[in-house]
Amino acid sequence: MLSVETRTIIKSTVPVLEQHGAAITTVFYKNLFEAHPELLNIFNHANQKKGRQQAALANTVYAAAVHIDNLEAILPAVVQIANKHVSLGVKPEHYPIVGDFLLKAIKEVLGDAATEDIMNAWEEAYGVIADAFIGVEKDMYANMETQENGWSVFKEFTIIRKEKESENITSFYLKPVDGKNVPSYKPGQYISVRMAIPGEKYLFNRQYSLSQAAGEDEFRISVKRDADNDPNGRVSVYLHDDMNVGDRFEVSAPAGEFVLDPTKNTPVAFVSGGVGITPMMSMFETVATSTPERPTAFLHATRNESMHAFDKAIQKHIDSMENASYKTLYSDQPEGYITRNVLEKYVDTTGDVYVCGPVPFMEAMIKELRTLGMKEEQIHFEFFGPAVALQTV
Ligand code: HEM
Repeated sequence: MLSVETRTIIKSTVPVLEQHGAAITTVFYKNLFEAHPELLNIFNHANQKKGRQQAALANTVYAAAVHIDNLEAILPAVVQIANKHVSLGVKPEHYPIVGDFLLKAIKEVLGDAATEDIMNAWEEAYGVIADAFIGVEKDMYANMETQENGWSVFKEFTIIRKEKESENITSFYLKPVDGKNVPSYKPGQYISVRMAIPGEKYLFNRQYSLSQAAGEDEFRISVKRDADNDPNGRVSVYLHDDMNVGDRFEVSAPAGEFVLDPTKNTPVAFVSGGVGITPMMSMFETVATSTPERPTAFLHATRNESMHAFDKAIQKHIDSMENASYKTLYSDQPEGYITRNVLEKYVDTTGDVYVCGPVPFMEAMIKELRTLGMKEEQIHFEFFGPAVALQTV
């Protein structure tokens, strides 16, 4: 337990750290990667360039510090981040390194204002927060390892099929190189892929949702090809252009908390924009095959017909279900958006709704669903990439 004095110092200095947030995190990452370039094999280089992840880590430390008396209150956020960490192989031994460089950055930016008392208080607080993460992650790694066909951190997989789903989305079917089956996973979970890209000094990591219901013998990811000049798109372009059947890369065990509760029988709606359709496919296929009587709506927004992935597969399931509807809107066409009226027509507001897509799309959908009277606990969503703050209120 932290002392009363330490807690008082922490709480009174959080606003100062937030005020200097950008400067502290820039110094932190610069010094961290200079001293430990090997960590660039874990961190997303593109996020570093854009400064997005930089803000996420430090801001979370400050946010957690505010709740230092009652870390239980922020456990859901810790668990979500911990999922990302375990899918990337973050280990207990990394925490003191990150802590050390974060504290040094605070000192460097605040200068004399960072007194010994303040620095000691933050050192203690970081230790408490790090221990909370390490504890949650230890349990997650243990679960991954003990699961049938499970493993933790990375394992080599090979591409067994590569299928085009639309003009810019291609599916990759993956199997472990050791010949084993894959572990089961919750519909909506993702994997990290890790690969060396020719000409690049460090490994690239990227998360992709598993895009089909859990099966024994393979994973499927469905990847949108990003633009050639998008620094965040290196893995997707490499996969699309250069990776073919028989090629290998490393894959993490499934992780993530944006998941369907397959035990429910109440109405459910899936609302996706663009490549946000991928976790929906896993959830929807699970409903279609396990609880086909469940009242189900599948709403999808994409640019046009050529960008429209999985249409036939969805329609086939819909036809075999008792109470399911499906509608896709093309934004290239007039009135081609999922509006409040469309939601009202298809979504049963007494049930659950899952939303996935670009940030503005999700913000709009969540706002409309709330206007229609849906409660926080009924609306499930996940944004791909660093946990940027969604403007949903
Ligand atoms: C992602 C917080 C420690 C590596 C994140 C995210 C947050 C966060 C908020 C974004 C989550 C998301 O994308 O959904 C923290 C906090 C830490 C901590 C509060 C300390 C208490 C570490 C450590 C490492 C690490 C020790 C390993 C060296 C990463 C990586 C990502 C990530 C690689 C993925 C994003 C990227 O690649 O840029 N962390 N983290 N974190 N964290 Fe941590």
